[in-house]
Amino acid sequence: MSEESIPENDSVQIFYFSGTGNSLRIAELLSEKLDGEIISIPSLKDQKKVIPRSGSFGIVFPVYYADLPVIVKRFANKLEGIGDKYIFAVATYGGDTGKSLKTLSEIIKSRGGKLSGMYEVHMPQNGFKKPVENIDKIIRNANMRMDIVSEKIKSEYSGRFIGYKIKSVLLIPLYFLLGSLTKKGIAELSGSDKNMDIDELIGMADKSFTVNEKCNYCGLCERICPANNIKLEKDGPVWLHKCENCLACYNFCPQMAIETKIANKGYRYKYPGIKIDKML
Ligand SMILES: Cc1cc2nc3c(=O)[nH]c(=O)nc-3n(C[C@H](O)[C@H](O)[C@H](O)COP(=O)(O)O)c2cc1C
Repeated sequence: MSEESIPENDSVQIFYFSGTGNSLRIAELLSEKLDGEIISIPSLKDQKKVIPRSGSFGIVFPVYYADLPVIVKRFANKLEGIGDKYIFAVATYGGDTGKSLKTLSEIIKSRGGKLSGMYEVHMPQNGFKKPVENIDKIIRNANMRMDIVSEKIKSEYSGRFIGYKIKSVLLIPLYFLLGSLTKKGIAELSGSDKNMDIDELIGMADKSFTVNEKCNYCGLCERICPANNIKLEKDGPVWLHKCENCLACYNFCPQMAIETKIANKGYRYKYPGIKIDKML
């Protein structure tokens, strides 16, 4: 798709990335409330540059390893012509947004823009089951929060709308520690060199994916992978080491035939009622 194929109009453009539907649902809610249009970030991955056409635009993404997903970093690094726009981002997260919004803000600055509105929306964890988590309640709260978020976006609010009452600056060193733990953890589970660039290392995490005898070769994993990272071969899916770690293949496999060390064993999640068609 060329950059010209992003239609020019006044409705707010909402770019999103989602592995298991949380961020997609939040993007949809925003588009309903703002009369906007949603655009999938993976659908733009072959474009050399992305020039948003609306006066304001937003980016909705899940937090991975206290940071921005690699695909979202790459997308943001292709933004152009954004200097005069109101830019907002919504981070969906299960525990803490870490430095994800800061990373995005820095990239947008380097592209000549300003990330004005930074919104955090707590959603269910999609990979790591917490001991106690009331999914219905979290989603109800998120829905209510989106009413406030959308009003703030309409008024072009500038600042950070955090998920916690208090967010301590003391947490910042922890994010750096987390970064090195992430590197170490992924290097171990994938048998890779921990000195590799973190984005490349994350791509290697699929070395921990396996498929068991329940696989019936339906090919959904290949189709649902937003990174085109899975090829269905005669013995089942093969992962190509440019994994986003989104867990779509693992969570949407109808046979629950895929296993991975990056999710809690036996825990599977997708946004309740999300239709597979929407994820494809
Ligand atoms: C690989 C991976 C890493 C994650 N890391 C974090 C994290 O550091 N902090 C956090 O709060 N949530 C983390 N999560 C949880 C997701 O951010 C959260 O569930 C998100 O809403 C999922 O969105 P999606 O359904 O649109 O993919 C992680 C999820 C995955 C799969």
